[in-house]
Amino acid sequence: MTRRAYRAAIAHMLDDPSRAPAEEACAYHPDGLLLVEDGHMAACGAWADLAPGLGDDVEMVELPGRLITPGFVDAHVHYPQTDVMAAWGTRLLDWLHTYTFPAEQAFADRAHADAAAAFFLDQLLANGTTSALVFCTVHKASADALFEAALACNMRLTAGKVLMDRGAPEGLTDTVETGRADTEALIRAWRGRGRLGYAITPRFAVTSTDAQLAMAGEVAAAHPDVLIHTHMSENPEEIAAVGELFPDARDYLDVYARHGLVGPRSVFAHCVHSDEDALRRMAAAGASAAFCPSSNLLLGSGLFSLKQACGCGVNTALGTDVGGGGSFSLLQMMAEAYKVGQLRGDNLNPLHAFYLATLAGARALHIDDKVGDFAVGKEADFVVLDLAATPLLARRTAQARTLAELLFILSVLGDDRTVERTYLMGRLAHARDT
Ligand code: GUN
Ligand code: ZN
Repeated sequence: MTRRAYRAAIAHMLDDPSRAPAEEACAYHPDGLLLVEDGHMAACGAWADLAPGLGDDVEMVELPGRLITPGFVDAHVHYPQTDVMAAWGTRLLDWLHTYTFPAEQAFADRAHADAAAAFFLDQLLANGTTSALVFCTVHKASADALFEAALACNMRLTAGKVLMDRGAPEGLTDTVETGRADTEALIRAWRGRGRLGYAITPRFAVTSTDAQLAMAGEVAAAHPDVLIHTHMSENPEEIAAVGELFPDARDYLDVYARHGLVGPRSVFAHCVHSDEDALRRMAAAGASAAFCPSSNLLLGSGLFSLKQACGCGVNTALGTDVGGGGSFSLLQMMAEAYKVGQLRGDNLNPLHAFYLATLAGARALHIDDKVGDFAVGKEADFVVLDLAATPLLARRTAQARTLAELLFILSVLGDDRTVERTYLMGRLAHARDT
C-alpha cells in the first residue's frame, strides 16, 4: 500500500453554504494534512492533530505557501469547441452557424478528434479540473476519441455524442435511428469503464425533433445510471425558436419533460431565462442547472440569477461552456459568476462560488459519492494551488485574513498559472513547472 501525506493549507466544501451553517458547510485547515492511501482519501485535518499518529511508512510532502482543494468539476463544456474560443461578434444562433458548426464538422475525422481530445484533457488538468460533463459532436467517433483518452489518464469524466436531427448543416446531423444506435453502442462500450460515465446529449430543442427527443427519453429510461445533458433557455432568439417549433409545449422545460428528459440525472446548461415556475419544476424533479457565466457574458445571453435558482431549490453547478466560454479555469468561472451577481445586485459569497466549482458539480454529475470533497474513502482528486504564483498573487494572498478572502483573490487574480499540480487518484497528472 502506498501512503502519502501532503502538508499545506487545505479547504473543501461539505455542503451548500447557502443552505447549511458555515461551520458545517466548509472545512478549512490553515496548516492541514491530507493523507492518501492507494488513491483514496484516508484522512484530512489539522497537521498538529494528524501528524503524530502517522506511521513511518508515510511519505511526507511539504507544501508551504500552497492551498490544496478538491479537483474542480466543470459541469458543462464542449471538447470540440477549443478552436472557437474567443470568436468575435455573434450571439448564440449566429455563433453556432458561423463558427461552431464548421469547427464541429472536422470531428468526422478520427485523427482530428484524437488530437483535440488530448489537447482538451491537458487543458482541463492544467486548470485543475479533474471531472467534467462534456459535449462531443454528432460523430460517434468523437465520443470514442474522448473516452479513450480520458480512460488512459484515469479521469472521472462523463460525456456523450450529440443528438441533432435537424437545424444543422449536412454532415452534422443524425437521425432518430442512427442516434439511438450510436448512443446505445457508446453506452455499452464506455459506461462504467475506469471512471467514465455516459450522458445522453440532445444538443438543444432547436436541433432535435420530437421523435428524437422521445428516443432520447426511451434510452434514458432503459439506462437509469446515465445522465441527460442539454442546453436550455440560454438566449431570447433560441427561446422564440423553441416556442415556434413546439407550439403545444407549456414552456422550454416542458419540451424536455414531455419526453422523460427532466429528472434527477438531468443537467441543463444555462437556464438564464428560466422563470420561477420552470426552476421550481426542475427542483421538484431533482434536475441540475449548469451556470456558465463566461459564456453568458461573451455570447451576450443574459445574467443568470443564482439567487433565484438557489431560492427555488435547483442544484446549480458551474460550467466553462468552452468554446462559448473564454477560459477553461473554474477559478476564473468563480470570478465571472461573482461579476454576473454584481450586475444583478447580488453578492456571491466566495465559499458559495467554491462550492459551485467543486461539490455542487459532483452532485450534478452524480459522482459526489466518489469526488467533490475530502471525505475519507473518496477518490483522491485534488489540486495544489500556488498562493504566490505571480508577484501580484503573492502580495494579495499574503493579506488575506479569511478563507473567503483567499478564495476570492485566487478567483479574481488566478488562472492556470495558479494550479501548480493536479492529482488524479493520488497520482500526479499535471505539474505546472515541468
Ligand atoms: N446551444 C446549442 N448548442 C450550443 C453550444 O454549442 N453552445 C452553447 N453555449 N449553447 C448552445
Ligand atoms: Zn454549451
